[in-house]
Amino acid sequence: MIVTFLLNGETVEVNTTPTQTLLDWLREERHLTGTKEGCNEGDCGACSVMVTDQRGARTYNACILFMPQLHGKAVRTVEGLSAPDGALHPVQDAMIEHHGSQCGFCTPGFVVSMATSHLNGRSDHDDVLAGNLCRCTGYAPIIRAAKAVEGQAIPAHMRDTPPDLRGDSDLPAPTSSDALAEWCLAHPQGTLIAGATDVGLWATKGFLHRDGKLDEVAFLHRCRDLQQIEDQGDTLRIGAGVSMTDVLAAMRDLHPSYAEMIRRYGSEQVRNAATIGGNIANGSPIGDNPPALIAMDATLHLRRGDTRREMPIEDFFIDYGKQDRQPGEFVEAVTIPKSAPALRCYKLSKRFDQDISAVCGCFNITVDGGTITDARIAFGGMAGTPKRAAAAEAALTGQPWTADTIEAAANAMTQDYQPMTDMRASAAYRMEAAQGQLRRYFADLNAKPTSVLEVSA
Ligand SMILES: Cc1cc2nc3c(=O)[nH]c(=O)nc-3n(C[C@H](O)[C@H](O)[C@H](O)COP(=O)(O)OP(=O)(O)OC[C@H]3O[C@@H](n4cnc5c(N)ncnc54)[C@H](O)[C@@H]3O)c2cc1C
Ligand code: FES
Ligand code: FES
Repeated sequence: MIVTFLLNGETVEVNTTPTQTLLDWLREERHLTGTKEGCNEGDCGACSVMVTDQRGARTYNACILFMPQLHGKAVRTVEGLSAPDGALHPVQDAMIEHHGSQCGFCTPGFVVSMATSHLNGRSDHDDVLAGNLCRCTGYAPIIRAAKAVEGQAIPAHMRDTPPDLRGDSDLPAPTSSDALAEWCLAHPQGTLIAGATDVGLWATKGFLHRDGKLDEVAFLHRCRDLQQIEDQGDTLRIGAGVSMTDVLAAMRDLHPSYAEMIRRYGSEQVRNAATIGGNIANGSPIGDNPPALIAMDATLHLRRGDTRREMPIEDFFIDYGKQDRQPGEFVEAVTIPKSAPALRCYKLSKRFDQDISAVCGCFNITVDGGTITDARIAFGGMAGTPKRAAAAEAALTGQPWTADTIEAAANAMTQDYQPMTDMRASAAYRMEAAQGQLRRYFADLNAKPTSVLEVSA
């Protein structure tokens, strides 16, 4: 298939396959070896590139970005940061000035992230660089370099205008959800690829493409109607193709605790690629969105051909590896309430940033006149699916909002979950952590003005 995009300001037309990664193409065919291969699974940021599309310029991990995802976009690699006359980009100068590089293996990824952040006028360097790992320089000089260029002029060549290629192409990349619905009906066993932050690893680590298991794929990134967030009055309808970066932006004011959890979801590069639909559809027991969405009583929208159905999102997760999705059906959107002032999300992981949860607890409890009238609690990491704590909720509902009630509910939680022991945490640790999160919720909400608790008062 032919993919057309801008590479460092120059239009390229590439004959590629659905699962060739940008990193492999850059290094092996284009010989642009500045973009490094470290982990090849989205964790280290050594392969960071800047990609510009209608949403602006963002960083991505080239190792888990398939070539067809670039059609109609603009890519800038580390080789494209210096000006056409050879002058270094201000962040490159600053890295030299501030001694921001030792062995240098991570440096191309860092400067691409920093240049993209500089272009976007950002100063939240810790967040921007959480997905760029450095093992020898240490972060202090790198952050100093990033700060030093704040406010400096943006080199003109950094503003890419992607080619306008809205028409159809020979790519399996439908341009609307209607077209996607048709494709899914015609290919009920096909694989959908949204952000590829999961599917990318099926290729780079699972080598599924070598067995022909990724031959029948459709890319979702051109379905712009799946990338909309629609205000519906009391609710927000979030299209399945909305990236976690855009979900984060939409949640900051509405659901700040959920937003804070998303801030720790993967890294900048991962959030830019990953979609909320992919995070739900994969059915992972440790995905971060599902427990929050269950606690909010979100509604999931599925589509098969012209037939649509919806369900409380918790009903989607049937068992480990099993979701309520028929062949040919896809996730179209999720609807969440705009108001959930008592919602709190706690993510516990071994590393603060860029790590999958060991336990992720989300709580949404309504108190009226000192009595708990409704309790929604959901956990990731405690069972084979994201799962509600039914026994704990029952122990809370109708009871006074007191420490004794919380203890009774914490005890009841042992009926809800029989967590597993794995490399992230032992079963006993998981249970204690989940109970601790409920106590933390009680303490957090009591520290807030009563208006948060007494939502219906
Ligand atoms: C380095 C790294 C860090 C990560 N950190 C986190 C983290 O902190 N928290 C977390 O929860 N996850 C994390 N993940 C996992 C990953 O980001 C998510 O699961 C992601 O949301 C998947 O979305 P995607 O768009 O990339 O899906 P893809 O990889 O494109 O697809 C995932 C699955 O969903 C299917 N699919 C995608 N869209 C649809 C749809 N609309 N309808 C039906 N099926 C669909 C695909 O066919 C595939 O089976 C991380 C991943 C990486 C690589
Ligand atoms: S090589 Fe590590 S994120 Fe791509
Ligand atoms: S300079 Fe060596 S890993 Fe960063």
